[in-house]
Amino acid sequence: MDKFRIKGGKALRGTVAISGAKNSALPVMAAALLTAEKVTLHNIPKVRDLITMSKLLAFMDAQVSITEMPASDYVIETPKLNHAEAPYELVKTMRASVLTLGPLMARVGVARVSLPGGCAIGARPVDLHLKALEQMGAEIGTSHGYIEAQAPMNGKKRLKGAHIVFERITVTGTENILMAAVLADGETVLENAAREPEVTDLIVMLRKMGAQICGDGTSTLRIRGVGELHGTEHTVIPDRIEAGTFLVAGAITGGDLTITDCAPEHLGAVIAKLEQAGVRVDIADKTTVRVRGAKKLVGADVTTEEYPGFATDMQAQYMALATQAEGTSVISERIFENRFLHASEMMRMGANISIEGHTATVRGPAALSGSVVQASDLRASAGLVLAGLVANGETLIERVYHIDRGYEGIVEKLQGVGADIERVHGAGS
Ligand code: EPZ
Repeated sequence: MDKFRIKGGKALRGTVAISGAKNSALPVMAAALLTAEKVTLHNIPKVRDLITMSKLLAFMDAQVSITEMPASDYVIETPKLNHAEAPYELVKTMRASVLTLGPLMARVGVARVSLPGGCAIGARPVDLHLKALEQMGAEIGTSHGYIEAQAPMNGKKRLKGAHIVFERITVTGTENILMAAVLADGETVLENAAREPEVTDLIVMLRKMGAQICGDGTSTLRIRGVGELHGTEHTVIPDRIEAGTFLVAGAITGGDLTITDCAPEHLGAVIAKLEQAGVRVDIADKTTVRVRGAKKLVGADVTTEEYPGFATDMQAQYMALATQAEGTSVISERIFENRFLHASEMMRMGANISIEGHTATVRGPAALSGSVVQASDLRASAGLVLAGLVANGETLIERVYHIDRGYEGIVEKLQGVGADIERVHGAGS
């Protein structure tokens, strides 16, 4: 298993380009299943989850063409969809495989998708996805660990439009039901829908394919089903979590980073919080942000929320920053029930953190010392990398396969701005 070795203490300076958003690329790739025609996608980040998604689409008989490996451009064509199934072997490595459920139900009216199960950050059920599909007329059962779904046998095997009110906001749930509704009979209204930029990006692409959707960016989406969708070309939006991670990297090391190819309009909550903590952030233009570290960071409380609030996917990175801030920062995690595993690793490095339920209280500044630590999930790994960048001496991060799922070339990008970090290749995966 690969590890990262980091020698802390270097202020990061220079320019970093942000890759495409993993959490946008996943649903738009799944959406390619909705048409028999060619879908060309650009700015797909070169990360492991997208390779897994392309394997999943190929398993369903999609033709996935790429010009390089890993690729940032994919051409996906699914003239016939023969295997409407997401097998356990792929779903267990990437729970976002469940995003194929909606498109399969829309295109062929039947789907067999392995139940994702829990993961390190929480139980993460998909009950809201299934309930919504049932409201659209699907018959759903589970057997041998698989979701087995069938559209109504009304001759056409088509779902029917429905009025769905999500009990809580779910990002992939909203995306799944959007993709199910675009080919359903009649109108679907989704209330309490997620407003994440990745949902809007999917809507933009679906509309280019001929879908009729209105309400993007709001919590009520209206979808009028159409007979069929056609091929399209789409460029995914920049990764706001990668951009946020580099903003914290610049801030925590007292550096000066210019972050390009990003979308500052998606970074509002992170930028506001960094400014509150004493960091200088300047939006240079529509795609560029500059961050300069403060002489003194000050503690600021954070509560994770759905977009446009502060993202749970930035919580671990913010915690690393809070360990270096003067005073107390209270971090409340409201989205996932078990997303503080990085805190105990940071404590092993010398951070002063106490946890009670869904709240972590960080007292700083603490002098971190390089240690051997274990990554538990994708964003926890990013938090540990940031802690390693300011720790005294050498930090060795184990299980970095988590970070490879979602950060394109993070070692190379950090090296490019002066970090002392290297990947240590190990046996196994
Ligand atoms: C998406 O996960 C992201 N993944 C996650 O990013 C992100 O952390 C999360 O949204 C929240 O922003 C992708 O986009 C592929 P949810 P998702 O459904 O859709 C509960 C990363 O690091 N819930 O919005 O799975 C759920 O348990 C990842 O890139 C139900 O109870 O998250 C959670 O507490 C990790 N029943 C809350 O809702 C359901 O049917 C929000 O989850 C669905 C969700």
